[in-house]
Amino acid sequence: MVVRGWGEFLLTDAMTAALSFTGVTVSFGAYTAVRDANLRVQEGEFLSVVGPTGCGKSTLLNLAAGLLAPTSGTVEALGTPLRGINRRAGYLFQADSLMPWRNARDNVAAGPEFAGQSRAAARAAAEAWLDRVGLHGHGAKYPHQMSGGMRKRAQLAQTLVLDPPILLMDEPFSALDVQTRQMMENELLALWQGSATRKSVLFITHDLEEAISLSDRVVVLSAGPATRPIAEFPIDLPRPRDVAEIRLTPHFQEGSCWVPGCWFASSDKSGN
Ligand SMILES: Nc1ncnc2c1ncn2[C@@H]1O[C@H](COP(=O)(O)OP(=O)(O)OP(=O)(O)O)[C@@H](O)[C@H]1O
Ligand SMILES: [Mg+2]
Repeated sequence: MVVRGWGEFLLTDAMTAALSFTGVTVSFGAYTAVRDANLRVQEGEFLSVVGPTGCGKSTLLNLAAGLLAPTSGTVEALGTPLRGINRRAGYLFQADSLMPWRNARDNVAAGPEFAGQSRAAARAAAEAWLDRVGLHGHGAKYPHQMSGGMRKRAQLAQTLVLDPPILLMDEPFSALDVQTRQMMENELLALWQGSATRKSVLFITHDLEEAISLSDRVVVLSAGPATRPIAEFPIDLPRPRDVAEIRLTPHFQEGSCWVPGCWFASSDKSGN
């Protein structure tokens, strides 16, 4: 595994950015959550961001989704400055975001319907995506009739049915048990690798093993306030990956030992 200092990747890589944060600061009143953050997600890259709780991970994702505007600095999506909602991104929230009054199929169909598809076409697309995420035959179930894993699958279908080039995922599997989580991680990787045009993924987690097993690159944030990226690690583990098997390889274990070491050694509690 290759170790590079923060910023080196930015200086040497001239690829197109799916998402680009430049000098971004976010203040909530007197509290500065993010200060002078620079971050790029390359097109087709699977990038994970890890950091301690409350440091500002969801804030970064909200910026990328266009749900929040930076206090200063710029956020660009596919080369265009973001103004308002990022229509080229799908957002998988940490919390359940299914509408309790709609069944699984109608939850997944909602996005295409709002985007102007006919009800029949939206429902057909929803059924196809429910099949792809392993929910064949469960379309008539309401959220309260589904397990946590099933609800996450439905949310994944809800996000992917719109075929966004950018995926924003906020600790999507953190509430699941280990087996279901690994199954979902593998399914996510299979869908990501299997898509005709590879999506750019910004994945938030505080689980380093999850970050390493999924990603092309892991970016570490400093503790808040005034969080910013302080280190990054390209992950050169071979693909396709099985997240359970890859954790047992010496190459992975070598990486998952030193990444936390670096994280704790380099956490910048002063925020400077
Ligand atoms: N709308 C807001 N108004 C005021 N403060 C906010 C707002 N949104 C976030 N914050 C503050 O900004 C900081 C970062 O919050 P954020 O939700 O981004 O953290 P996080 O890294 O996602 O945490 P966790 O790992 O617990 O999900 C926190 O101190 C939070 O209280
Ligand atoms: Mg969060």
